[in-house]
Amino acid sequence: MIIPLDNKIFPIISEMVSEQSLPCYVIGGYVRDLLLQRPSKDIDIVVIGSGIDLAKSLARITGRKGKVTVYRNFGTAMLRYDDLEIEFVGARKESYQSDSRKPSVENGTLGDDQNRRDFTINAMAISLNKESYGELSDPFNGLDDLRNKIIRTPLDPDVTYSDDPLRMMRAIRFAAQLGFAIEERSLAAISHNKKRIEIISKERIIDELNKIVQAPRPSVGFYLLENTGLLDLIFPEFSRMKGVAVMDKKRHKDNFRHTLQVLDKLSEKTDNLWLRWAAIMHDIAKPVTRKYIEGHGWTFHGHEFVGAKMVPDVFRRLHLPLGTTMKYVQKLVLLHLRPIALVEEEVTDSAVRRLLFEAGDDIDDLMMLCEADITSKNDEKVKLYLGNFQLVRQKLREIEEKDAVRNFQPPVDGELIMKTFDIGPCREVGVIKNTIKEAILEGIIQNDYEQAYGLMMEKGKELGLKKVNGEW
Ligand code: CTP
Repeated sequence: MIIPLDNKIFPIISEMVSEQSLPCYVIGGYVRDLLLQRPSKDIDIVVIGSGIDLAKSLARITGRKGKVTVYRNFGTAMLRYDDLEIEFVGARKESYQSDSRKPSVENGTLGDDQNRRDFTINAMAISLNKESYGELSDPFNGLDDLRNKIIRTPLDPDVTYSDDPLRMMRAIRFAAQLGFAIEERSLAAISHNKKRIEIISKERIIDELNKIVQAPRPSVGFYLLENTGLLDLIFPEFSRMKGVAVMDKKRHKDNFRHTLQVLDKLSEKTDNLWLRWAAIMHDIAKPVTRKYIEGHGWTFHGHEFVGAKMVPDVFRRLHLPLGTTMKYVQKLVLLHLRPIALVEEEVTDSAVRRLLFEAGDDIDDLMMLCEADITSKNDEKVKLYLGNFQLVRQKLREIEEKDAVRNFQPPVDGELIMKTFDIGPCREVGVIKNTIKEAILEGIIQNDYEQAYGLMMEKGKELGLKKVNGEW
C-alpha cells in the first residue's frame, strides 16, 4: 500500500538516502497522525545505519548546520527544520533491565525496531527510498487497529509494558486523546504491571497525565487510570474521592464521579489546562472534611479552605509548576463555592463587589468552573441555577462598570496617608487603608479619590492623628 507523503522534507531525505543506498523510513507517531489526518510537527526517521550521520548530512545539504542536536548516549540526533523537529535514529534491537527504563541498544533491522515499539498503531513505517517511496510497512496490522480504534501492543503486553512502564500511561493517554479502546489483554497487563510505574520519573508521568487532562473528554483517561490501579499510585488524593458512604439511609454523591463530570463539562468550554486542573482539585478535600451530622445529613464543611491548602502539596509531589500557575488553581479552589452561595442568597451589590475584588481577572474562569459544577440530575434545579447565574453575570458587569473593583487599586495609598498625617509606616496606616477598602466593597463610598480622601480624614481624626499644618 502506498501512502502519499505530504511534507517537502521527504523528497529531500529520499534523494540523499537513495544515493547512499541506506534503507530509511518515517515511522511512529507521524505515520499514525498522517493516517488519522491529525496535524503533527514531530517526524521520526529510522535508518538502517547511523541516525547521527544522516542528520548531519541532511543539515549540511539544506544549509542548517547549526540546527542539529546530537544525543550520543542514545545514538540519535534531532534537526530543526523550519517549524519541524526531525529525529533521526538508527534501527535498534533493544533489551531492558528490570530496574530502569533505559534500554541497552544493539543495531538491528526495521523489523527489530518495529518490535520494540509501544503500540501497533505506532509501529507503522513508510519507506523513503526511491524504489519503494511511500510504501507502508505494517507488520502488526496497525492500520486495522487504527480503523477499529484499538490500542494494542505489538508483542505480549506484559513484555512491552514491563520493558517500559511509561507505556501504561501512554496507552491510557492515547485512549483518551483519540477515543480508542485498549485491547483486553493489554488492559489486564496494565493492572498486573502497575507497580512498575514507580521506576518512571515524575516529569514523564506528569507529561502523560497532562495530555490526559487535555483530552476532549478527560474522564475517559481517569476512569482507566482508576480501574487499572494506576491512579492510586500516582495521585492517591484523587483516587480517594471514589465511593459513597451511607448513614441512616442517607448517601452522599460519589465525589470522584462528580468531579469527572465537572471536568468533562468544563472541557467542552475550555482548553485551559490549569482551569481543568482547578476542576480536578475543586472538591479534593471532601474525603478529609466529610462528616455525618444526625438529623442533617452529610457535610463537607470548609472543604474549599482545606482543598486550597492541599493544592501546593499535590502540585509539588506531581511536579506541576508552583508559582503563579499553582496560585491560580488554589484561588479557584478557594472561591469555587462563592458564586453558588451568591445565587442561593440574595445577590447583593456588596457580595458581588467582594467576589470581583477577590477573583480579579480570574472571575470569568471562576464562573465557568462554577457553572460546570452544577451536575444535579434534577432538570428544574439545574435550570434555576443556570438562570440565577445569568443574573450574577449581569450584576458582575454592572458593578464592574460602576466601581471597577476587578483590579482594585486603592484611590488613596499608604504614601498619601503618611504624608497627610506626617507619620511613618505604622499600624494606623493599615487601619485607614483597610477602612477605605471595606467602605468601597460595602458600597458606603464610591471607588474615587474625593470620597476616599474624605474617609481618610475622618478615620485619621478618630484615631487621634494630626493633619500636617495642624488644622485639628
Ligand atoms: N515510543 C515507544 N515507547 C515509548 C515512547 C515512544 O515505543 N515509551 C515510540 C512510538 O513508536 C512512538 C514514537 O516512539 O510513536 C515517538 O514517540 P513520541 O514522540 O513520544 O510520541 P508520539 O507517538 O509521536 O505521540 P505524541 O507526539 O502525541 O507524544
